[in-house]
Amino acid sequence: MTAVLSGFAARVLRWQSSEGRNDLPWNQGRDPYRVWLSEIMLQQTQVVTVIAYFERFIARFPDVQALAQAPLDDVMALWAGLGYYSRARNLHRCAGQVVQQHGGRFPDNAKALQALPGIGRSTAAAIAAFCFGERVAILDGNVKRVLTRVLGFERDLSVAAHEKELWSLAESLLPGADLQATMPRYTQGLMDLGATVCTPRAPVCDACPVRTVCVARRDGTPLKFPVRSRKLRRSSESLWLLQAQSGNGEIWLHRRAQTGIWAGLHCLPVFSSREALAQAVPPQHRAALEDAPTVTHVLTHKDLFLHPVEVILPGMPPLGDGSWCSSDQQEKLGLPAPVRKLIDRACSRPVPGGESM
Ligand code: ADE
Repeated sequence: MTAVLSGFAARVLRWQSSEGRNDLPWNQGRDPYRVWLSEIMLQQTQVVTVIAYFERFIARFPDVQALAQAPLDDVMALWAGLGYYSRARNLHRCAGQVVQQHGGRFPDNAKALQALPGIGRSTAAAIAAFCFGERVAILDGNVKRVLTRVLGFERDLSVAAHEKELWSLAESLLPGADLQATMPRYTQGLMDLGATVCTPRAPVCDACPVRTVCVARRDGTPLKFPVRSRKLRRSSESLWLLQAQSGNGEIWLHRRAQTGIWAGLHCLPVFSSREALAQAVPPQHRAALEDAPTVTHVLTHKDLFLHPVEVILPGMPPLGDGSWCSSDQQEKLGLPAPVRKLIDRACSRPVPGGESM
């Protein structure tokens, strides 16, 4: 499968060097550890959020050995707030395998990289292209959008055979020469185009380096692409969170099970109904439970409606597994971002009937 697009790679390369993002902290040099870490973080999280997490991770775990040796708890605590926590567990497993099976050096090709935990085809290709100049195609969500628009690729990507066809087309568009220099820049260029120009709802076609060869631009139909008949089916879930405070402002936290939402993280106790939450509180304190405003947390597949219920339990540690945690301890443990927000919000609200300072 080949695509004939006059000078596509050359246009992307030229545009990337003048307009692309060339100052990202993971793009300085070709260290596979830094590139791998950033690509995993960027899988489901925006660049602006990732930068601070990336810097903290690198400061704490400067190389793959340091990450492999760290307790998983420390990795989870540092990941807290980035979401999609299976990424952090795979990250730790992957570091372990790189140390044990590859002598602490990441494999230097996409095929071997893809055999490691948490590294899919596109991520493996990104690492191999950035670090080793391998001539392999990436095809993440952004790049699918760019390529289907440019090519006018109308086939349904819900069908595996059509997606495979797009992979082949992506390969046929790759630069053909000087790969050590062109592959990193071309790969970054496609990512940058998808993130800054060829955006989902408001593409800036006038600023696009491939506008003169783009089928969707010619036909005025960029929003038609990519075609996907089976859309992600979104669901919603309500959770009730018990926000118990001790007399001196500590919060009751416990460690969640290793499966399900926020697996393995420290968190407020979570319940599937208001009744179940009330049952967990000693009877004499149930009347004091106070419903705080609901917060919506949007995940890729799901809207989570979080219903915090607050109560002060002076001198009582009766809630099963867990402990009272000061704000310093909370910071060290790392909490899911929406839970952190609920607690911060409650702490900044005036206590009903409380004295002002
Ligand atoms: N998204 C995924 N990989 C990226 C990268 N290397 N730079 C910017 N955004 C990205």
